[in-house]
Amino acid sequence: MENNQRGFTSNIGAIAAAAGSAIGLGNIWRFPYTLGQNGGGAFLLIYIIFVIFLGVPLMMTEFAIGRRSQSNVVGAYRVLSPKHKGWMGIGILGLICGFMIYSFYSVVAGWTLNYIALSATGGFAGKDAAAVGEIFTQFTQSSYLPLITQAAFLILTGVIVVMGVQKGIEKFTKILMPILFLLMILLCVRSVTLDGASEGLKFLFKPDFNNFTATGVLSALGQAMFSLSIGMGLLVTYGSYIRKNDDLLKTSVCIAGTDTLIALLAGIAIFPAVFAFGLSPESGPSLVFITLPNVFNNMPLGMVFAILFFVLLAIAALTSTISLLEILVLWAVEELKMKRITATILISFVIFAIGAVCSLSLGSWSDFTIGGLCVFDLFDELTATYFMPIGALAFTIFFGWFYRKEEVWNELSNGGTLKAKYFKIYYFIIRYIAPLALIIVLITGALGIGN
Ligand code: TRP
Repeated sequence: MENNQRGFTSNIGAIAAAAGSAIGLGNIWRFPYTLGQNGGGAFLLIYIIFVIFLGVPLMMTEFAIGRRSQSNVVGAYRVLSPKHKGWMGIGILGLICGFMIYSFYSVVAGWTLNYIALSATGGFAGKDAAAVGEIFTQFTQSSYLPLITQAAFLILTGVIVVMGVQKGIEKFTKILMPILFLLMILLCVRSVTLDGASEGLKFLFKPDFNNFTATGVLSALGQAMFSLSIGMGLLVTYGSYIRKNDDLLKTSVCIAGTDTLIALLAGIAIFPAVFAFGLSPESGPSLVFITLPNVFNNMPLGMVFAILFFVLLAIAALTSTISLLEILVLWAVEELKMKRITATILISFVIFAIGAVCSLSLGSWSDFTIGGLCVFDLFDELTATYFMPIGALAFTIFFGWFYRKEEVWNELSNGGTLKAKYFKIYYFIIRYIAPLALIIVLITGALGIGN
């Protein structure tokens, strides 16, 4: 099982890495703005339902496919279905997703670096909400600065991936995630005690289905997939490192639970402040980068906390970018027989080029749109809202309908050593509920019904 070419070899390392990949910009940056654009509380409710009834079973399925096949995402389907090679398409779709996500993700990850610098030099001090918003707009719309920070982030990630990620990720995740967690709680306390905070809490927790559309359901599903890193085969790879005697249900529940908790804390830190400062919850990708500096401006030692927060956000992003690069590199090494270092450099350059287009599409190239979306938004939406659910649909059909039931049971019960009483429910979800739900959501969302 141990394969030295691969990034992670220990079990805890694999679980820590899966958690590290899950917790990232998706929780703190993407979740709040997607929720804000989709009406608040109703979105949250649907999101949580998706995480429990689809997220957890889908995560277990990816882990099981990886652990059963002991292979990377493309190879896994070759091993489990030697006769029908078409299933390998799932792996290829996953790779395309990986390229697209890493491209825009590294742009945003770069923003966090700039925000560390800005907070450290007192860039937000004494500014009102409008001025803080202006800083974001000017920065992201400028042509070269975001490209430099993106490149810096790519280099950082590349160096770690080349040096080997085993020890690094595990240590990072174990020490820094709890600090991130504590800091988020502190931010929540500050945010909910601001004058006018209750409006924000109402927005977040009170489901109002009047403003909620079919696209909102699709976005909630996409966000759940994105946040849990499901549907692109990453978890297949990590599943291949999970020990045979580990309980896949427990592992998945832990990861999904922590991930959702962090997203919720981000919501509680952000929405009360959004309403208290008279900002719009619908502002999109800029939401966090404008709201939180305002919160910091309004707390004692704000500058210290601001630096700390953006450092932690950068690290949370880093554990995700490492995973993103790792899947791409692993594929190039195992399937294209490239050297690890060559693959890392080549892929990073490709990502930089595509990422640069994403970045510029927010500023000087914003006139160029496809379906009304700039390239950045298009990548974001295409991957989370369509490709990842399509990938998930394909592997549930594979595991629920084509793969033998006894084998599925065998893998989830660790060869019969676990009782796995949940198996019936799991299998029912994987076979019927998940594919149906995914199909319905994809179709209604694509048709824009309810808009
Ligand atoms: N889950 C990550 C986040 O919330 C984003 C992500 C999606 C990801 N797919 C991934 C990260 C694959 C690493 C690998 O930030």
